[in-house]
Amino acid sequence: MNTRTINVTVNETPQQREVSVSTALRDFLRDDLDLIGAKAACQDGMCGNCTVLVDQRSVKSCLVLAAETHGAEVTTIEGLGDRTALHPLQRAFAENFAAQCGFCTAGMILTSVELLERNPSPTLQEVREGLVGNICRCTAYVSIAEAVLQAAAEMRGETPGAADATTSAGGER
Ligand code: FES
Ligand code: FES
Repeated sequence: MNTRTINVTVNETPQQREVSVSTALRDFLRDDLDLIGAKAACQDGMCGNCTVLVDQRSVKSCLVLAAETHGAEVTTIEGLGDRTALHPLQRAFAENFAAQCGFCTAGMILTSVELLERNPSPTLQEVREGLVGNICRCTAYVSIAEAVLQAAAEMRGETPGAADATTSAGGER
């Protein structure tokens, strides 16, 4: 087997691992590091359920080789926050019931992290466009957009105001 030694920081923990040159980042995270937030779904970049951050950029980890992350910083949903210190997006998803089965949620949130980094004040349409590569089979996307708008408001230092987020997205129901 053709392997390579990589040094990669995952959720702020340095890792030195031997990986096959053909192993996808998603499989490295799930199988070698037991980080199962990145979901194994379509395998070909279509669903976004495997999204993680590599050097603060959202990527579909089924399309990235683990060997390509040598020297990089990877963040998975497990490294974004925890039950005692949720990221604003995690809290907003919970408060807006933006997860049903939850299969898409990690990818939605990590894509939204980069979206809000690039554009802290997105419109509803910009949120929708930013999440176009992430598929949800359950929610019809309305509550997801509401959650992202609420988190954006909180991250801008404004009162979250679920009512504001609901109003912003409500006209599209
Ligand atoms: S599993 Fe990677 S995009 Fe679907
Ligand atoms: S909540 Fe089930 S796929 Fe999105």
